[in-house]
Amino acid sequence: MSKGAWPVVSGCPVAERIIDLRSDTVTRPSPGMRRVMAEAEVGDDVLGDDPTVKALERRMAGLLGKEAALFVPSGTMSNALACVCQTSPGDEIILDRNCHIFNYEAAAASAIGGVQLFPLDGYGGLLPIDQLPSVVRPVNVHHPRTAMITAENTHNRAGGRIYPFDELEAISSFARERNLRFHIDGARLANASAATGITLDRYGALADSFTFCFSKGLGAPVGSIFISDEETVTKARFWRKRLGGGMRQAGILAAACMYALDHNLERLTEDHERADRLGRVVGSNRRLDLGFPVETNIVILEAADGLLDIERFRLDLEAEGILTLTFGGRFMRLVAHLDISDGDIDRFEQVLSRIL
Ligand SMILES: Cc1ncc(COP(=O)(O)O)c(C=O)c1O
Repeated sequence: MSKGAWPVVSGCPVAERIIDLRSDTVTRPSPGMRRVMAEAEVGDDVLGDDPTVKALERRMAGLLGKEAALFVPSGTMSNALACVCQTSPGDEIILDRNCHIFNYEAAAASAIGGVQLFPLDGYGGLLPIDQLPSVVRPVNVHHPRTAMITAENTHNRAGGRIYPFDELEAISSFARERNLRFHIDGARLANASAATGITLDRYGALADSFTFCFSKGLGAPVGSIFISDEETVTKARFWRKRLGGGMRQAGILAAACMYALDHNLERLTEDHERADRLGRVVGSNRRLDLGFPVETNIVILEAADGLLDIERFRLDLEAEGILTLTFGGRFMRLVAHLDISDGDIDRFEQVLSRIL
């Protein structure tokens, strides 16, 4: 890549190569992926004519052992469809306070579906299962109706934490007993599956619906999928259109997602190994602490003594060509992905020991 094509780094000297650790969404489609996109068979997907989109939907429904799936532009839209299509206005959804749906989706469920979100404080992104019986509302004219529970696997704000399978099973049985829907935001379910060896269909059996993203660790430029039973997916198709998410020759994008499934699923463990290395580099610096154990491709760190100005630290890294994200005023996030190499981690290590 020519130097002129590098991102502008807020007036700081541009380093040899930008190391972008902000997110696994920053990857660019590889030449192989671009080739299949260019050659994709397409049709008008809103009219139900795009063979590549249909093939992707069938493949994903099959992988999770579900009846149907719907290709959507983003994980945010898929989660919104999950909330809107499995509740009625005025219902309540139980979720954990740190989840993506509650924090980073512009209150879509409330704004679009008219539902109330009931956040619980769990540790590290996990729902406090023992509290569930007491927070499901009794049927009473005063209360909203509890309609759904959601869980996030892996958990973004909890440093890519894998939801323990037995806890998902417990939530799943509880939801079934109480006649509640259970949605899993599996934007990074592929990472959980790669790390645990638990196949996607075993996860699929636990919940009524799933969000799954191709544009994160799997490296596609665009695309997520909503997976559920036939009836819910039919509703979701209506809502996707209503929200302006119906895409026409979307097979170009679906082809990239197919390519991602074929080439980038199994290599996710490489990202996990690199994140583990990043975590060890962070953990061995006396001024930094790991926010959570590193289980997949995300590393969250914070100042060990509370004295390090995390925003200043981010700018110092940026001046060295290393991009990171800060949040909550105390935390920094580093994410390993397709475009991060072992050499990049070496350089991160050198820069860290120099600036801290
Ligand atoms: C756990 C989780 N769910 C949903 C999303 C939303 O995905 P999108 O950015 O495609 O809307 C993200 C995005 O990072 C995420 O981390």
